[in-house]
Amino acid sequence: MKKLSFLFLIFLLVSGLGVIGREKIVIGHRGAAGYLPEHTLESYAFAYALGADYIEPDLVMTKDGVLICLHDIYLEYTTDVEEMFPDRRRSDGHWYAIDFTLEEIKRLSVHERCRRDGRPYFPDRFPVGKSRFEVPTFAEVIELIQGLNKTTGRDVGIYPELKKPGWHMQQGHDIVAALIKILDRYGYRGPDAKVFIQCFEADTLTRLRYEFGTALPLVQLVSASPGYWRMWKREGLAEIAQYADGIGPNKSIIEKNPDYVDWAHELGLLVHPYTFRADSLPRKYGSLEEEIETFFFDYGVDGVFTDHPDVAVKCLLEARYVP
Ligand code: G3P
Ligand code: CA
Repeated sequence: MKKLSFLFLIFLLVSGLGVIGREKIVIGHRGAAGYLPEHTLESYAFAYALGADYIEPDLVMTKDGVLICLHDIYLEYTTDVEEMFPDRRRSDGHWYAIDFTLEEIKRLSVHERCRRDGRPYFPDRFPVGKSRFEVPTFAEVIELIQGLNKTTGRDVGIYPELKKPGWHMQQGHDIVAALIKILDRYGYRGPDAKVFIQCFEADTLTRLRYEFGTALPLVQLVSASPGYWRMWKREGLAEIAQYADGIGPNKSIIEKNPDYVDWAHELGLLVHPYTFRADSLPRKYGSLEEEIETFFFDYGVDGVFTDHPDVAVKCLLEARYVP
């Protein structure tokens, strides 16, 4: 009951009074993946209702060149593709989204994310085999968010991540060109558009800035894996500042070096770390709220990717944050 009243409070605040004017942002990671199967319209809509400022779809392409929302280039971790198309796996054992048409992908059911051995991360929430969710197209997500913006008067943005653009190109698909085309079609143009384009591949972001000449906000994702060591340093950030507007670092990079946020800010880069989630809370924090508060107000980040947008919104409201 307490939880319900809190959700109602959030609803009132975001629909009526508004969480308006704050610059620290809450990004609904894979929608509201802390509550619903990731990358479904239901998850995105719930993130919107919980007060997220931006909704995050990860993007891959189908065989017929449609952008769809999926975290992996494979289908088997979050859909029933093994049962529906048992003979369509490649020799490496994976079912690739790019080998399926949109019509085929729409016949799949999305379920809770499963581990490689098939065990779901959340076995009890929406039992695998009993729930029916669809893989959304990116166009459907944009139409959902823009429609909700019209009905609520809010101006929630989108935060698409291009997954493996280099690999898509090897497969004969230019996912970068496809993204720019669809964003333009739906009116996302110029530096003030309510969109951040994120990617781990630096050459994709430089291509967006210089080959496509886009002024849309770009975010360089920075992994904690060793291949990214240069981007953990001030010189690496200076290079990023030549083509991007912000960074999306793994939060552990900031925990190890809190100066990282200041370095980025000095170079004019926004800092949106990932991922804040209740099911993998670092031991040093007593709650997700405490962790998010630390990042917002001690480390000074500008936004957080979180599976629980309501918790991050609550942190900002309770701190009476005013930009
Ligand atoms: O895009 C930020 C964060 O989502 C990157 O990690 O693996 O959840 O896409 P991942
Ligand atoms: Ca992502």
